[in-house]
Amino acid sequence: MSKKRIFFTGGSGKAGKYAIQYLLDQGYRVLNVDLKPLDLPGVDNLIADITDSGQMFNAMSSYAGLDELDEKGGVPKFDAVVHFAAIPRILIQPDNETFRVNALGTYNVIEAAVKLGIKKVVIASSETTYGICFSDGQTDPHSLPLEEGYDVDPMDSYGLSKVVNEKTARSFQRRSGIDIYALRIGNVIEPHEYEELFPYYLKNPEVRRRNAFCYIDARDLGQIVDLCIQKDGLGFQVFNAGNDHNGAIIPTKELVERFFPGVPVTREMDEHEALFSNRKIREVLGFQEQHSWRNYVSVD
Ligand SMILES: NC(=O)c1ccc[n+]([C@@H]2O[C@H](COP(=O)([O-])OP(=O)(O)OC[C@H]3O[C@@H](n4cnc5c(N)ncnc54)[C@H](O)[C@@H]3O)[C@@H](O)[C@H]2O)c1
Repeated sequence: MSKKRIFFTGGSGKAGKYAIQYLLDQGYRVLNVDLKPLDLPGVDNLIADITDSGQMFNAMSSYAGLDELDEKGGVPKFDAVVHFAAIPRILIQPDNETFRVNALGTYNVIEAAVKLGIKKVVIASSETTYGICFSDGQTDPHSLPLEEGYDVDPMDSYGLSKVVNEKTARSFQRRSGIDIYALRIGNVIEPHEYEELFPYYLKNPEVRRRNAFCYIDARDLGQIVDLCIQKDGLGFQVFNAGNDHNGAIIPTKELVERFFPGVPVTREMDEHEALFSNRKIREVLGFQEQHSWRNYVSVD
């Protein structure tokens, strides 16, 4: 059987390169569509701009590589689209440009996928939709843990673009009936960053309050993307993509008392269970964490 073909946007970036490696390891064929190529053995690259609808339609109905010419029988269809390309936070580009690229780019990618008959789309949303990360001043969430049913209300253009993208995904899903899953990705940690960042984070937990102490190992994010590709029939879904525990030594109950006093806690939580809850990906997708920060950082 030929390999499943994945159309992956933004794969040259921090998170995408690990997700692509994970997908290649599972035997997928991956076409990375980005403004710059990813130098990784086994991946195909196509330079294209997500803000240009014509380029998205064209790229998504294209060969993934020259070798596909030899198969004769026309251009094969992509099995899934994974959309990571974005301006990944505020204060890289002006706010309106962040909003334009993220909201318009996501519209273009999803529209092309739906109209070309691709049945699975996975998009990168963000923990910032919960509105704490880039808020003006220190704000409290309405409740904890942060779970997918939360009334997301960010104050910044990046978080807003991701909320709009979730709505765009929902709208296209309703009309087409395909599966579109939005991953609210936590703060992505690359393998080398445990040593570089975590000792400081663990000593100074207050610096992680804006992230509600969340993180997602870049390789575990690859597993989540793979599980989304494999799991069919769920329609439109939002999933938090985070690791099992908080990125902190302090137990969950104490973190709430110290950093979120007075915020309602809506259910019993395990000793170190993440305030940015990953319960849904564990229960619905079967996610099993492989890379806890505790594997890489000693706590004495
Ligand atoms: N890094 C995190 O902690 C984090 C957390 C939550 C959500 N996310 C989301 O995950 C995704 C990946 O984030 P990342 O940290 O890897 O970001 P990144 O900036 O490292 O990678 C984004 C990639 O998108 C590409 N890109 C940007 N504009 C484009 C355009 N117009 N057309 C085509 N490609 C374009 C860039 O060239 C880059 O390779 C983004 O959607 C981001 O918003 C990231």
